[in-house]
Amino acid sequence: MVQSKQRILLIISGGIAAYKSLDLIRRLRERGCTVRTVMTKSAEQFVTPLAVGAISNERVFTDLFNLDDEREIGHIRLARDCDLIVVAPATADLIAKMANGLANDLATSVLLATDKPVLVAPAMNPRMWSNKATQRNVAQLKADGIEFIGPAVGEMAERGEAGTGRLVEVPELVAKIESIITPQRISAAQPLHGRHVLITSGPTHEPIDPVRYLANRSSGKQGYALAIAAQKLGADVTLISGPVTLADPHGVKIIRVVTAAEMLEAVTQALPADIAIFAAAVADWRAAKPRAEKLKKSAGNEPPALKLIENADILKTIGQRVKGRPELVIGFAAETETVVAHAQKKLKSKGCDWIIANDVSPETGIMGGERNTVHIVTRDGVESWPEMTKADVADRLMARIAAQLAQKSAAAE
Ligand code: CTP
Repeated sequence: MVQSKQRILLIISGGIAAYKSLDLIRRLRERGCTVRTVMTKSAEQFVTPLAVGAISNERVFTDLFNLDDEREIGHIRLARDCDLIVVAPATADLIAKMANGLANDLATSVLLATDKPVLVAPAMNPRMWSNKATQRNVAQLKADGIEFIGPAVGEMAERGEAGTGRLVEVPELVAKIESIITPQRISAAQPLHGRHVLITSGPTHEPIDPVRYLANRSSGKQGYALAIAAQKLGADVTLISGPVTLADPHGVKIIRVVTAAEMLEAVTQALPADIAIFAAAVADWRAAKPRAEKLKKSAGNEPPALKLIENADILKTIGQRVKGRPELVIGFAAETETVVAHAQKKLKSKGCDWIIANDVSPETGIMGGERNTVHIVTRDGVESWPEMTKADVADRLMARIAAQLAQKSAAAE
């Protein structure tokens, strides 16, 4: 349940799904929210400001240059006097404007001026949704930290059209809104309550000169999913991330690093932790002498020989600690052949409790993709999980971790 008087600013853009905004407003008000609304010009073609005003019991804002509004409230205040901005339905046009920072009407000006979280629920024709331009805009907005929900799959208002493009159902949208604005209840009943979970994630970049670096294809998605899963179970989460383009997870302390050396330093600083999960694809080597000036190719010369030296192994450093070792140290093993056998070796050599092994051969699509197939390698054996989303792997792994810790504490009592 939402805490009373959370303030939602709802931006309605034009589209047949705009009529659903009435139901959305009603349900949010039932949950104790106040809902102020901004409507675009085209939204007014589908639902009237009068109806929206009547349901919301608030004034409806439609025009950027209404002097009264500017005097009374102004778009800057409108953008800030709320806990969350919800754009529903969001058309391809509005998404494109947001991605490019346009501000040529009240809705876009508010979106550009806000410092509040923004949730976008797109609704459009499936071809418009799958168009590369729309996908590019959505990817840009996600990288900027904007949250998306949907679109859902189903029949379109246009006869005979079906696909991905429908506005998500209102109850689903309300649930998502609640999850963002309801402060996470700290509950002693949560399985990881009071536990500090440290997670490394993403690639590292090792400089060669000021413009070039060594890197790998890690997207950071699995590590971020783990951070979200741990936070949902009540843990205090520190996520130490290499350079990625993912939005910051809610309620997680995030520390950004670039190189393996910085990651090791950040991990050491973040200790003590109860659980440490090393999901990062740390570069094994770095340039022995990164140049201060850009390397030049001078005519006729051989390409420069790049001398590499080994980076410290962060997992091994922490796994083999005698003092201050986390209770559970979990590594990942990225392999392209004999996955489990290699993982078993790493389990021993790096001093960890579990290794999550996955096959990162290009044909698996795991690196950078949304899905993962993992084997949980422990001293007691190997558990192979079916293919699932990285979010599901994270939830299942966190549940297993919570169960393991509970078992240990029960045995200690
Ligand atoms: N790891 C680490 N620091 C490094 C290298 C790896 O913390 N310098 C961690 C990774 O985060 C992962 C585990 O070690 O949890 C295994 O990483 P992986 O790349 O599979 O193995 P490597 O040790 O690099 O061995 P190899 O590249 O030979 O397979």
